[in-house]
Amino acid sequence: MSVTHSLDTATSRANPVPSPMKRLTVPKLKAMKGGDPIVMLTAYTARWAQLLDPHCDILLVGDSLGQVIYGLPSTVPVTLEMMCAHGAAVVRGSWHAVVAVDMPFGAYEASPQQAFASASRILKETGAAAVKLEGGEAMAPTIEFLTHRGIPVIGHVGLTPQAVNILGGYGARGREDQEANKILADARAVDHAGAFCIVVEGVLEGLANAITREVAAPVIGIGASAECDGQVLVIDDMLGMFERTPRFVKRYDDLAARIGEAARAYAEEVRSRSFPTADQTYRPKA
Ligand code: KIV
Repeated sequence: MSVTHSLDTATSRANPVPSPMKRLTVPKLKAMKGGDPIVMLTAYTARWAQLLDPHCDILLVGDSLGQVIYGLPSTVPVTLEMMCAHGAAVVRGSWHAVVAVDMPFGAYEASPQQAFASASRILKETGAAAVKLEGGEAMAPTIEFLTHRGIPVIGHVGLTPQAVNILGGYGARGREDQEANKILADARAVDHAGAFCIVVEGVLEGLANAITREVAAPVIGIGASAECDGQVLVIDDMLGMFERTPRFVKRYDDLAARIGEAARAYAEEVRSRSFPTADQTYRPKA
């Protein structure tokens, strides 16, 4: 797709204007409830955003970048600076999807005011349209505070990886009635607070279906149910970049093996001096 530069008359700014696609908006996404499934993938860099954007409705700059990009043991150490840097890269590499950026652990839980400071910084520094934050009933006042102040929010309930130290692991949630009822109440609270989408992660299928039926916002499932209003996966998981993937991930490729094979072939050619050849070297012009 060619990107042309022209004046955006809506903002009177010179913008790269993609033709013919226009970026989706939060209200359009909200209106997809119960309609065509919403396609969401994580993206962390500009080039990956370019490749994924034509196929996605939402590009999520997930705090999963802690493990995927930085090799951290969990999402807990991820910082606002990391999210802003990668968020800006993904916005630069996309033109169609709504870009949403995860609020990292510690950047929003203390108060709605802290959340507003972090979320507004993310939107200003990245150009993204929305933020995502984890938590249910406890986060509802914060979601309401942000949405009433111009910041669209994606909620995230069920398995919430930032709470790994409370949960004790990444297993599916909602197996006991009490926990299932709590997750349903969380989804309802986030919905009433104004989240325009809700990610439901790692819950039993029946619970995901109940949430999808009950809430007004589109529900995006991950390890949830085919009946959700959309699906999200971590891009590196679905491309087979890691040896181990969660049970709910379908591998659409085996990139780790292909990258390893390409690196092996390159190393062999360097060592045998069969790379570079005349095709890859500069000679005086004739
Ligand atoms: O951080 C992330 O990538 C996420 C998705 C798994 C939903 O939150």
